[in-house]
Amino acid sequence: MNSADGLPKNIVLIGLMGSGKSTVGRKLQTMLGYPMIDTDHLIEEKTGMTIAEIFAQKGEQAFREMESAVLQELSAPGTPRRIIATGGGIVGRRSNRKALSKLGYVVWLQAPVDVILQRTSRNRDRPLLQIADPRSKIEQLLIERSPLYHEIADLELETSGLETEEIACGILESARYHFAAKA
Ligand code: S3P
Repeated sequence: MNSADGLPKNIVLIGLMGSGKSTVGRKLQTMLGYPMIDTDHLIEEKTGMTIAEIFAQKGEQAFREMESAVLQELSAPGTPRRIIATGGGIVGRRSNRKALSKLGYVVWLQAPVDVILQRTSRNRDRPLLQIADPRSKIEQLLIERSPLYHEIADLELETSGLETEEIACGILESARYHFAAKA
């Protein structure tokens, strides 16, 4: 599973909506030179629909099925190394958590509720937050999901006050240390 440079096959980014998974993933992609996959984008490509359209027309459960299916595909043996950014709710299913753990080095990106609220209010592509009180929803999701993120995280990173590059460098250093210590 590990490459010659001591890094695991994949780096997997988990965390709430707006925690910086895509931004950090793109920086890691630039630094490492291997591709970034985003589970939400894969689902959109496959269905030809946006996440918002899937939620509106097929419902959240259908979306969760698609999410699990995409994760299974990413888990197929013989795939190249990647950065994998995941949808915030992917940890809800036990089978998904197991699959994520197996995929590689799992990093939980954390950000304060205010920051998440500010980032997610910029667009309307997150159906779970298109409600009167998105702050309460974010707080509720944080309470529900924190134990699930924690369960599978190899690294938990509070990102507030850090530049994207600092976060990415921290992840790379920790990943190397983690796997060197295991070798
Ligand atoms: C969701 C997070 C979203 C997307 C969908 C549901 C969630 O992804 O998968 O809107 O349940 O938290 P991001 O975390 O990339 O915004």
